Amino acid sequence: MKSNSIKDVTLNPETIPSHVAIIMDGNGRWAKKRLMNRVKGHEQGSKTVRTIVTACRELGIGTVTLYAFSTENWARPKHEVKALMMLLKKFIVSEKETLLKHNIQLNIIGQVYKLPEDVKKEIDITMEATRNNDKLLLNLALSYGSREEITTAVKKIAKKIELKELAPKDITQDLISNHLYTKSMPDPDLIIRTSGEYRLSNFLMWQAAYSEIYISDTLWPDFSKEELIDILKNYQERDRRFGKVACSTSSDG
Ligand code: FPP
Repeated sequence: MKSNSIKDVTLNPETIPSHVAIIMDGNGRWAKKRLMNRVKGHEQGSKTVRTIVTACRELGIGTVTLYAFSTENWARPKHEVKALMMLLKKFIVSEKETLLKHNIQLNIIGQVYKLPEDVKKEIDITMEATRNNDKLLLNLALSYGSREEITTAVKKIAKKIELKELAPKDITQDLISNHLYTKSMPDPDLIIRTSGEYRLSNFLMWQAAYSEIYISDTLWPDFSKEELIDILKNYQERDRRFGKVACSTSSDG
């Protein structure tokens, strides 16, 4: 299907969010509704990942972060964890050429060291191959949890203080941000969660301080480019005040 250019979709190019983060929820329910195994829902969900990443690139979004596997997801049944890891590997291998062709950089946030060796290997290959791409940064959050991320950052800072590379007075919000997996990335302007749940679920909790949040009732496998555009329109109508007084335009970032 030929995609719409930004001119066709009446979005304001000046207030396209720099960073959109998505909690991709509802794969299991999508499968259950169809009397299918949960893994079928994840398979369909990975097709949606492809569609939405392509759409984000076309719409001029600079960074997309997808919550693909949380620190808590390791507690799911072994066969489901295995299936998710297989799907991730398949996605990373099969999408490598597309990422290169479309100038998309792959990055991982989370405990990469906990992933199976074969998945890590493919991640390394694709991250290296795409490291100079600069149209879109695709962040996959894998074995990711905000509490773990913040704890790890605090430990790194404490170590630097112990080594006298830093003093306690050097601890600032910027310093903390620069010790997170997302260092040097803009905070998410917009966080979308599918499947109607009103939770952050340990996702980008530091970075979400001023993010706009949009909850969609759609189950992730059914999420579409058209809905993403509608959500972006809704985002562009919001007045982002960052704790200050009302502004007459919504182009303040
Ligand atoms: C939540 O649905 C989804 C996940 C835990 C994993 C997301 C994974 C994918 C979209 C597929 C693979 C990812 C990539 C990047 C190729 P759920 O299982 O919690 O659904 P439920 O709440 O309906 O049970």
